[in-house]
Amino acid sequence: MRIGLLTGGGDCPGLNAVIRAVVRHSIKGYSSEVVGFLEGWRGPVDNLSMPLTLRTTDSIINRGGTILRTSRTNPFKMDRGAERIFENMERHNLGAIIAVGGEETCSVANKLHKEHNLPVVAVPKTIDNDLNATDFSFGFDTAVNVVAEAIDRLHTTAESHNRVLVCEVMGRHAGWIACYGGIAGGADFILVPEKPIVVTEVVEAIKKSHARGRDYSIVVVAEGARFDSDKPAADSDEENGNRSPGFNGIGERLAKIINEETGYETRATTLGHIQRGGSPTAFDRVLATRFGVHAVDLVHQSKFGRMVALHGGEITDVPVEDAVDKLKTLDLGLYKVAEVFFG
Ligand code: F6P
Repeated sequence: MRIGLLTGGGDCPGLNAVIRAVVRHSIKGYSSEVVGFLEGWRGPVDNLSMPLTLRTTDSIINRGGTILRTSRTNPFKMDRGAERIFENMERHNLGAIIAVGGEETCSVANKLHKEHNLPVVAVPKTIDNDLNATDFSFGFDTAVNVVAEAIDRLHTTAESHNRVLVCEVMGRHAGWIACYGGIAGGADFILVPEKPIVVTEVVEAIKKSHARGRDYSIVVVAEGARFDSDKPAADSDEENGNRSPGFNGIGERLAKIINEETGYETRATTLGHIQRGGSPTAFDRVLATRFGVHAVDLVHQSKFGRMVALHGGEITDVPVEDAVDKLKTLDLGLYKVAEVFFG
């Protein structure tokens, strides 16, 4: 059976590792060919494709981004989107599609499967780790390592200048990157979208540690963290195309408030897309590879409408609908661990 493969949504490290695994396992394990669709769901709708061979997918396991490129295209917002996907599948003689993506890409896969019976298998990716029904998605570990390394660097400059440094990280709706990155980097306070920001708590923690003679602090804030008085995270921000990191400007806002309330010199750094670029960690390469191999097995067992997943270290699969509509927010038990180190 020939398979179509696409990567949708924001890119993340590990996508090329999945592509390599899908192609290798299809060709060597099942003697079947893979066609790469370009730019997410736009590829199968507009028939943008490239052949994927052992040669073209060789030596890409360590490369960030996606050789198939990506977009946030939603076929249901395009003229005859779903129908054109089927026409192009027929043109390429494809029996199935493997869609690698986050919540939006998986939602489209789910809808196409449910409403149009598309033979599709989904593979979860997101640096935010907020996709339901899998313990981890690849890309997250790489982002966390970038954050931890950045905080290490912020420590030395903060210490030299007796400053408070606020580090804004990605995570519009979930604080996984902030919490993991903050714990790993030894942050003095971590703020996440799941808990409204209470300025007095942040200020007290900073003052407490300064009173102990530590004249600098690192505060990690997820881009989606908000003050109680802020409007709730508006999806309209995203519909208007405003998805960029720093979309709420929370890092800068917080730094100003900390400076006013404590009198300590405070600066903000927004890590932004640095967290999404570059080479995947070994963990993400292995996870992406395991996901890709399992996705191909599912296709050849005709287990469509499924998403591969990681549960307690094992690779398994779940109905793709389990992964959509509701995000996996931060485990507040983990946040309690982080709190041990505040102040
Ligand atoms: O969903 C992944 C993510 O990296 C978010 O953490 C971030 O808010 C968003 O994408 C940025 O989107 P864009 O690359 O479209 O600016």
